[in-house]
Amino acid sequence: MCGIVGYIGYRDAYPIIIKGLQRLEYRGYDSAGIALFDGENINLSKTKGKVDDLKKKAQASMSLKGSLGIGHTRWATHGAPNDKNSHPHYSNSGDLVIIHNGIIENYDAIKKELVNRGYTFSSETDTEVLVNLIEEVKLKENVKLGKAVQIALNQVVGAYAIAVIDRQKPDEIVVAKLGSPLAIGVGENEFFVASDASPFIEFTNNAIYLEDEEMAIIRLGKEIKLRKIKDDSIAYPSIQELQLNLEEIEKGGFDHFMLKEIYEQPRAILDTYRGRLLAKEGIIRMAGIDQNLEKFLNANRIIIVACGTSWHAGLVAEYIFEDLARIPVEVEYASEFRYRNPVVTDKDVLIAISQSGETADTLAAIKLAKEKGAFVFGVCNVVGSSIARETDAGAYTHAGPEIGVASTKAFTTQITVLTLMALKLAQAKGVFDRSRFHEYLTELEQIPAKVEEALLTNPLVEIISNVYKDSTNCLYLGRGYNFPVALEGALKLKEISYIHAEGYPAAEMKHGPIALIDEHMPVVVIATSKGHYEKIVSNIQEIKSRKGKIIAVVTQGDVQVRELADHVIEVPETLENLTPLLTTIPLQLLSYHIAVMRGCNVDQPRNLAKSVTVE
Ligand code: G6P
Repeated sequence: MCGIVGYIGYRDAYPIIIKGLQRLEYRGYDSAGIALFDGENINLSKTKGKVDDLKKKAQASMSLKGSLGIGHTRWATHGAPNDKNSHPHYSNSGDLVIIHNGIIENYDAIKKELVNRGYTFSSETDTEVLVNLIEEVKLKENVKLGKAVQIALNQVVGAYAIAVIDRQKPDEIVVAKLGSPLAIGVGENEFFVASDASPFIEFTNNAIYLEDEEMAIIRLGKEIKLRKIKDDSIAYPSIQELQLNLEEIEKGGFDHFMLKEIYEQPRAILDTYRGRLLAKEGIIRMAGIDQNLEKFLNANRIIIVACGTSWHAGLVAEYIFEDLARIPVEVEYASEFRYRNPVVTDKDVLIAISQSGETADTLAAIKLAKEKGAFVFGVCNVVGSSIARETDAGAYTHAGPEIGVASTKAFTTQITVLTLMALKLAQAKGVFDRSRFHEYLTELEQIPAKVEEALLTNPLVEIISNVYKDSTNCLYLGRGYNFPVALEGALKLKEISYIHAEGYPAAEMKHGPIALIDEHMPVVVIATSKGHYEKIVSNIQEIKSRKGKIIAVVTQGDVQVRELADHVIEVPETLENLTPLLTTIPLQLLSYHIAVMRGCNVDQPRNLAKSVTVE
């Protein structure tokens, strides 16, 4: 993972890099560092901790002069998070400095060779090995920085987005990419480098996204030239105009990005179906499906691959596709799918779901399915991301940037897109009559307003959070469409508040988790009126008779559950298939408030990262 930023131009590099790193902290935040070229020397400061810690250290310990610099925010892979292992890393001569996002898998063998040649290392990282390999090539072959980077990268196995600067080259940054994202912002007499475009959005709207196995020598006063790392041939950059705006990536008055993003859901869901859902006309318009309809209709089955919260959205989609479109669906963890020799044929359609569009395992699963001839469709949020580019076709969620590490609006917008897809296929297959189709479209149009209503539960959820904030365990139960919501609720709680939580299908409770229930165990039960209501009422009774504390999410006006539960949170009524879009809202709020009350860092929970670009 990790975030990288670089600047070369006429402004002070320091504030640009620091601000850029703060915007990239979603990618990792266990340590941070910066290197600035003052025209003579490359000064460097790095530290365990967040970008704020780096700021304090850099301001106290180094010259902040320079219009050329690079910075890094880390999510540790090789070597513990400490000052020494933080990036940037110097080469042995002190001339070269590197930042790196990714993993060099054969670093150990290269390190041994370099040690034999007299190189010494001050960190345990694969990155310090890479910068010294580049230096060794540069000296041995007597070549310039760009060529040395290219030769060295041909000797490494792994993934990388790197930026390298050289004390002998005061007007140059060399960057390269394989597997990890890298964008170049192109301004007037200045260039920016970053893991995504957010660090340079206020300076330029023009960006070049490097493809895998491409590198660029960025030189002031010159046009950018891209080269293929393998054979040094020239590639022609295409400059894209960015759609991002600054307000979208700032907190907008909320205490945390997570809360802002929870509250953005009505708008995000609306943006997801805007232009696609034409209820009056009775049409769903999705170019990616329209152009590939036969592939879907002739498919033996749909395989959904994803990780984390996106995998939970995939589980909801499985229910929806099978229920509405009558197409068999399997949902797989991308990391398992890619390594288990799965049976995939050209009669399969694979749907990859990913907020970031960069998750390494999901990307690898896509490549595997493509090799086996499957048609691959992407559901991504980040426009132009690696997964969006790797898939045969796709649909964006249009949720806007999601910065909080705990995914919220990505989940509900993914479900929205997948529901539109299922409805469209159901209609195309003729398994839906007009009136049922129309009923769905009209109800979908009501969802943003109903999510607004669900958000009104916030003060009540805050009170409930206060009661349970000191719990050590929590169980989440749901049936049918709300079983994946239970899984997602439990994931939200554990990832940001560090309370152990498990999601279970309510009926499975009696095959194990019921043993855990006593008067100290809060049990969150999703018990909406549609879909197995009587069954879940029985499950609630089973919990009650074992003295468990029940927090129930119910449909407005519910009577039966209210009599049994300790706390009741009401959400508006909707069609059964659409309930996850509403029931998930109070669960997001519950985990948010509990985490805040426990003093946890909600937007940057420990050990996690937003974009997981390592396996
Ligand atoms: C990380 C994030 C999760 C996310 C998962 C999959 O673990 O912290 O929030 O659900 O990756 O990410 P993707 O970008 O592929 O949806």
